[in-house]
Amino acid sequence: MLATYRSLRAVATIPAAALVVVVCTACEQHAHDDSQPRPAAAASSHETSSGGRSVDVQIVDALNTRYGVHPGFRSNHAKGVVVQGVFVPTPQAAALSRSPLFAGVRVPVTVRFSDAGGFPDLHDGAKLAKPHGMSIKFHLRDGAESDIVTNSLKFFTVSTPEDFRDLQLAAATSPPDGPRSPAFEAFLKSHSSVEAANATVGTPDSFADEQYFGIDAFIFVNQAGDRQPFRYIIAPEKVVHLSEDDAARQPPNFLVDELPRRIEHGVVTFHLTAQLAAPEDQTRDPTQAWPDDRKVVDLGALTIRHAVADSDALQQRLLFTPGRLTDGIEPSDDPLIAARDGSYAVSFTRRSPASATPAFQREAKEREESDLNAASSQPPHAANIDR
Ligand code: HEM
Repeated sequence: MLATYRSLRAVATIPAAALVVVVCTACEQHAHDDSQPRPAAAASSHETSSGGRSVDVQIVDALNTRYGVHPGFRSNHAKGVVVQGVFVPTPQAAALSRSPLFAGVRVPVTVRFSDAGGFPDLHDGAKLAKPHGMSIKFHLRDGAESDIVTNSLKFFTVSTPEDFRDLQLAAATSPPDGPRSPAFEAFLKSHSSVEAANATVGTPDSFADEQYFGIDAFIFVNQAGDRQPFRYIIAPEKVVHLSEDDAARQPPNFLVDELPRRIEHGVVTFHLTAQLAAPEDQTRDPTQAWPDDRKVVDLGALTIRHAVADSDALQQRLLFTPGRLTDGIEPSDDPLIAARDGSYAVSFTRRSPASATPAFQREAKEREESDLNAASSQPPHAANIDR
């Protein structure tokens, strides 16, 4: 089973030369190169249907129902700012994973910080703007790309794609800042993880002063073939949260405007770290944090160095996808990973239709199917057996 899983991931890792979405201005020539070999389509697909719509489509429809449709903007995390920097890995990272991200060379990164929710004009200090997001795109030497997509929740609100959809639909029955409808109250009551997770977030005084969590578990594979489940944590130099009153008193764009100004005066540093699962820790349920005493390894320093002049235009063309991985990093059996890859692609197709070429659609479908195959054919992590 192990060999099957490894070989599946090996064929499913598509070089970014085959990607369609332009994200690195230095790599524009790769954007429409569809000449790379592609894996054969896998047998499984994420086609749980309601009225013929896949769950991925239902999720984006549900987000649109909750927040409205705002052409050109993401269905979730609609408001954001893009910056650039570099990642320098540690030797400990290379011991855990044979990923080219950790090979020892500096890797240029494009980073997008965002407010939660699908309202492009949200106040950065609003309750709905939490959890704030941090997405990283690594630009590898061979033109390949890899993404990490995180937010400031310590663990997630729900554990299945269907519950994520239903959470949006339940929330849509109440006004965004108004009293909760009976339907929304009922959903929250039957899904206690939603309010538990939301209680873990704050409003930072700067995107630079927040800690961000990958939440979904992934698996490191090193040169020797050793496998280690982990969750990303992106650690700032300090965490600074505002009180609700202070957050409300800030100008509406205080986070999005502050970061480029801060970078003019010096770099902003984060550490990319990995919380390592113990053998008894489950990897399937992202509403369950692992105990705080689990080992956290510093994978490298991520320094944000440059604002970009065309952030608004660039973020429309960018797509960050949690399952866009390299060799040496694999999805776990967490079902959110495939649903995220699928629904982000649906959302991208709607917000940037010109970039969503047939080659993009094919690659997105292959990635999601590869996630599903990986999740179902993965050697079970001890703690997931019998769950
Ligand atoms: C079932 C679970 C989830 C679903 C269905 C979902 C869905 C979505 C969708 C549809 C988008 C818009 C994508 C686009 O247009 O590019 C989005 C954006 C985003 N999501 Fe999720 N999400 C889920 C879980 C998570 C989790 C666990 C995290 C954090 C660990 C997260 C963080 C983000 C961030 C940061 C963005 C903005 C990405 C960017 O900067 O381009 N989401 N999500």
